[in-house]
Amino acid sequence: MKAAARNRRDRVRAMLADLKMPGALEVADDILAQADGGTVTASEAVERLLDAQIVLRNNRRLDSAMRSSRLPAVKTLAEFDFAFQPSIKREQVESLHELGFVDRAENVVLLGPPGVGKTHLAISLAIAAAESGRRVYYGTLADLVESLMEAKTSGNLARRLKVLTHPALLVVDEIGYLPVTQDGAILFFQLINARHERASTVLTSNKGFEEWGGVLGDDVMAAALIDRLLHHCHIVNIRGNSYRMREHRDLLRSERPEESTRRRQAK
Ligand SMILES: Nc1ncnc2c1ncn2[C@@H]1O[C@H](COP(=O)(O)OP(=O)(O)OP(=O)(O)O)[C@@H](O)[C@H]1O
Ligand SMILES: [Mg+2]
Repeated sequence: MKAAARNRRDRVRAMLADLKMPGALEVADDILAQADGGTVTASEAVERLLDAQIVLRNNRRLDSAMRSSRLPAVKTLAEFDFAFQPSIKREQVESLHELGFVDRAENVVLLGPPGVGKTHLAISLAIAAAESGRRVYYGTLADLVESLMEAKTSGNLARRLKVLTHPALLVVDEIGYLPVTQDGAILFFQLINARHERASTVLTSNKGFEEWGGVLGDDVMAAALIDRLLHHCHIVNIRGNSYRMREHRDLLRSERPEESTRRRQAK
């Protein structure tokens, strides 16, 4: 290698260290050697160098979000099989992952029966937001209400509401499986009211809006809550089979008598 090229690589390495870019630093030698050798173009080399740094930064952001956000798992858009769930508009879900709705403090409501991917997509939106450096938080409705009730009992409600209003994206999962007490529903209303037009909330439910009154034990408050949520809202309505049950679908089908008879007749 020519001395000039070696010196330049040394300087690039020193600069990357100075700029605190360990991801780029790690791949720099390799990429610069390829660029000097003519196997990659200069623009490719720059792109790959910066890409390595961005991947490292996003992984770090994700690690720290996984520690602080209470997200129950890592689920990404890339892992989501759209072919399995044809009722979902792929373009809508992909464009939500570009996170314009977070900047505009809009909400997302994912509706559908068990196992269709509501939690998966709520988490993948939260992960995209975390990777972009935004603060995110996850809770089921039951968890969030419980934490608000505890805060109220210990005289810390205002602080807890502030903490839960702070994240740019809050996931409220599983509205509809467990009923909420009236006190709990009032606290949840306060939370949504505090976040309204300030920050995005992503909610999931197995129940249509008309049934939320039953879940929250109060039709009037549910109507006021839904009014705020829907003011700036994207609704993803999923109709389809449970992904959890996909391996048992044949089993379920053969248990339906008309179908198995039909299949026998066809043979
Ligand atoms: N289309 C899909 N492609 C890949 N994985 C999926 C898909 N749909 C669901 N899954 C996976 O199946 C499991 C169940 O999905 P998920 O938890 O998102 O369902 P849900 O709609 O939240 O159901 P529930 O109402 O019971 O909470 C998860 O492990 C999820 O990652
Ligand atoms: Mg779920």
